[in-house]
Amino acid sequence: LTSCSFQTLKYKTFLSALSADVGLQEIFGKHQISLRSRNQHVAEGTEEAGRETLLNEVYTELYITEELRREVNTQHEVMQLETTTKTNKLHHTAIKNPDIFKVFPDQHRSIRVVLTSGVAGAGKSFSVQKFTLDWAEGLENQDISAVVPLSFREMNLVRDEQHSLLTLIQLFHSTLQKIPAKQLRLSLDFNNSQVVSDVTQKSSVNVLLSNLIQGRLLPSALVWITSRPAAANQIPPSCVDRLTEVRGFNDAQKEEYFRRRFPDEELSSRIISHIKSSMSLYIMCEVPVFCWITAVVLENMLTTEQRGELPTTLTDMYSHFLMVQTKRKKNKYQQEHQTSPQELTETDREVLLKLGRLAFEHLEKGNITFYQEDLQQCGLDVTEASVYSGVCTEIFRREREIFQKPVYSFVHLSVQEFLAAVYMFHCYSTRKVKVIEDFLNNSMKNPSLDEFLSRVMEKSLQSQTGHLDLLVRFLHGLSVDSNQRLLEGLLGQTEKNPETIPRAINNLKKINSKGVSPDRSINIYHCLMEMKDLSVHQEIQEFLKSENKSEIKLSVIHCSALAYTLQMSEEILDELDLDQYNTSNEGKRRLIPAVRNFRKFR
Ligand SMILES: *[C@@H]1O[C@H](CO)[C@@H](O)[C@H](O)[C@H]1NC(C)=O
Ligand SMILES: *[C@@H]1O[C@H](CO)[C@@H](O)[C@H](O)[C@H]1NC(C)=O
Ligand SMILES: *[C@@H]1O[C@H](CO)[C@@H](O)[C@H](O)[C@H]1NC(C)=O
Ligand SMILES: *[C@@H]1O[C@H](CO)[C@@H](O)[C@H](O)[C@H]1NC(C)=O
Ligand SMILES: *[C@@H]1O[C@H](CO)[C@@H](O)[C@H](O)[C@H]1NC(C)=O
Repeated sequence: LTSCSFQTLKYKTFLSALSADVGLQEIFGKHQISLRSRNQHVAEGTEEAGRETLLNEVYTELYITEELRREVNTQHEVMQLETTTKTNKLHHTAIKNPDIFKVFPDQHRSIRVVLTSGVAGAGKSFSVQKFTLDWAEGLENQDISAVVPLSFREMNLVRDEQHSLLTLIQLFHSTLQKIPAKQLRLSLDFNNSQVVSDVTQKSSVNVLLSNLIQGRLLPSALVWITSRPAAANQIPPSCVDRLTEVRGFNDAQKEEYFRRRFPDEELSSRIISHIKSSMSLYIMCEVPVFCWITAVVLENMLTTEQRGELPTTLTDMYSHFLMVQTKRKKNKYQQEHQTSPQELTETDREVLLKLGRLAFEHLEKGNITFYQEDLQQCGLDVTEASVYSGVCTEIFRREREIFQKPVYSFVHLSVQEFLAAVYMFHCYSTRKVKVIEDFLNNSMKNPSLDEFLSRVMEKSLQSQTGHLDLLVRFLHGLSVDSNQRLLEGLLGQTEKNPETIPRAINNLKKINSKGVSPDRSINIYHCLMEMKDLSVHQEIQEFLKSENKSEIKLSVIHCSALAYTLQMSEEILDELDLDQYNTSNEGKRRLIPAVRNFRKFR
């Protein structure tokens, strides 16, 4: 834990069951009132004043399950969503938010430390906020004296300072300023203490936190840690009494989200039926933030005169999202000189490309929050006028300011990945050779678009964590005509060689992915879908209907498509026998992910 990255471990709430004497009770009472007002509202995508919503109005119960997905770390977070099947869900116990520390009848030990993991945007922060609000409103967990949320994002900023646990808490919760250390001490057991056990002892922040988690500091406090999957295993399992995962929305909850958001039943039904018609959109809706993106885009498209095809791929959705958000801003701030609704102004274009550069340059490092200096390095002016009230507030936000030091982030990691792809595409088409060369570690001069795409694909497949999977998926989607037209001003002019796209599609079908995990190979099929090439999809549908399956020879890309389709199938299947498939050894290997939806495997 000493080496733990505070960046990805985002929230930590610890709940201390202190013996409450009268003085403390009064302080905790004030703390409760303060937490209530701080947690009542949510800002879904934007922090803009006046657009805040009440948490209790929009909160949809999330699916929290005991136990974690095992694919942690080997896959891009978004792909992890796909590896959960109905089968898995059936075996897991769902836990309600207020019961996170509750001991179930078949469990015997008490639960002191809970670790909850979940992909970016799955709703971890919402869960913590809801837990806190329920306590602060006097509705749940009233046996807990005080709920004290601490955010890793914020603690990151003081990680090099020396603090005692008490001063650390007081730094983020001024209502607890008056707690005398003596009173805290009264309720503590110092007898077994080693290392840091005194709430007033100064130490580095990470030492404090590991002592807290290990129960050396405030041993009677309940600790709830939430984290992105990749960071979750930095906490030794021996310290954790309950492992849980926030899985975002299940199928029923996805629908509930749209019905709550759009009281107009006709509109919500149209939106729901549209997302159900596209498997990749439907899966992504497990992430509440993606539901929000979808809602923004589809509401805009279905309620304005604007006609045209509704988005069917992820890239379509994000391209429209970018345009809708930019347009919205324009209407609000620049009514006097209206441009055509689909056109970006020069300023919008510049800001978006600078944001793209920020997104791109930090993606490789896994950096998801930025300081002013980082923005300035990409040429982004951090004055109120350009960043805070400019086009980017809808996709880029300024988080709560801590110690006069603002922290920025994209509304969701996938938005960062999308803008990184836009920037990369722009660099490709405007021949910013250096950027492309550095990224690909390769000095190929003027590669054709299909060569370029296959180099990026190669690089993404080599990544152990899959951190470029979504980027490469978006890049393929951006090469499609409709998205090129939509984002014309941003992407720049690309060669119009009629053979390029068929060649790119063909390359995808032939990629040799020896040595690449078969789960990761499925991303190749996703790229094909982003390019709207439905041939493989249709061939697999034919295959599934055919009477004698061994008569049909399957290529490697067929196998990835089939693995994906079987894995996502509603019904649990009986036996997966690789020898029954007419394919190469590599093809058989690519079928393995399907095993998650079968009872038996040969
Ligand atoms: C701590 O140890 C002292 C003496 O060794 C003992 O009197 C006291 O009861 C212990 N306190 C707790 C909370 O166990
Ligand atoms: C992100 O990375 C850059 C460059 O490595 C660094 O300067 C910056 O401080 C990082 N941001 C955060 C929030 O750590
Ligand atoms: C870049 O390429 C050079 C030479 O081909 C190689 O030695 C180096 O390891 C590569 N660097 C990375 C980060 O892949
Ligand atoms: C399926 O086709 C293969 C190859 O043509 C043939 O050997 C096999 O007998 C067929 N099986 C069935 C059940 O028709
Ligand atoms: C595999 O498929 C090919 C092409 O459809 C067919 O000719 C061959 O007989 C099949 N092999 C088996 C073992 O069924």
